[in-house]
Amino acid sequence: MIKFINLKKEIPYTIFREKYEEAHRKGQKNIEAVAISSYDCKKKEVESRFVNLKFVDDGSFIFFSNYKSPKSLAFESHNQISALLYWDSINIQIRMKSKISKTSLHFNKNYFKGRSLKKNALAISSHQSSYIESYEGVQQNFSKALNSSNLSECPEYWGGFSFVPYYFEFWEGHKSRLNKRDAYEKVDDAWNHHVLQP
Ligand SMILES: Cc1cc2nc3c(=O)[nH]c(=O)nc-3n(C[C@H](O)[C@H](O)[C@H](O)COP(=O)(O)O)c2cc1C
Repeated sequence: MIKFINLKKEIPYTIFREKYEEAHRKGQKNIEAVAISSYDCKKKEVESRFVNLKFVDDGSFIFFSNYKSPKSLAFESHNQISALLYWDSINIQIRMKSKISKTSLHFNKNYFKGRSLKKNALAISSHQSSYIESYEGVQQNFSKALNSSNLSECPEYWGGFSFVPYYFEFWEGHKSRLNKRDAYEKVDDAWNHHVLQP
């Protein structure tokens, strides 16, 4: 579930919330899953991966990850991302473009304290995306972390990422194939609306 806090009363946010509620009512699985695409200037590579959106706070979309992971290094080298959701229960695709940044240490610490100890042990134990000899090694690192004393203390290498889109596109699939596309682009604090050809 995505938690909405003081959601911005601007049109693309209102549409996002409405579509989310509709997909949720229809029992959408993995409703939090969003594909984040990044560009790493050093590697000259574009890469995408799913993460789980946890909050939309005011205008910020927030997910959590490892700050030493490849995605984090890519965000540091180039802070432009695109985010992509597809809710098949209502046949909606949502595309967003944004800059991305880290959430505050204070926010990370508070959020970490409220999570399950198992989730925290996993976050603590994993050097995300680094090579390891075997899956047994992963299990051992996890067990070690699970038995360690302070599982509520957020490590400095874990936390949130926040992005405030300047572009949204809502694509609605229709049986007639005349799919509906509405794009919203923020220019000088106003949202410009365009209908796109399918
Ligand atoms: C549905 C789904 C949700 C995921 N959620 C997260 C998440 O919230 N945070 C995260 O770090 N990885 C998440 N992952 C794993 C990432 O896709 C990815 O494997 C991992 O973050 C390493 O990515 P990187 O090497 O690009 O940094 C999720 C994977 C799936 C399939």
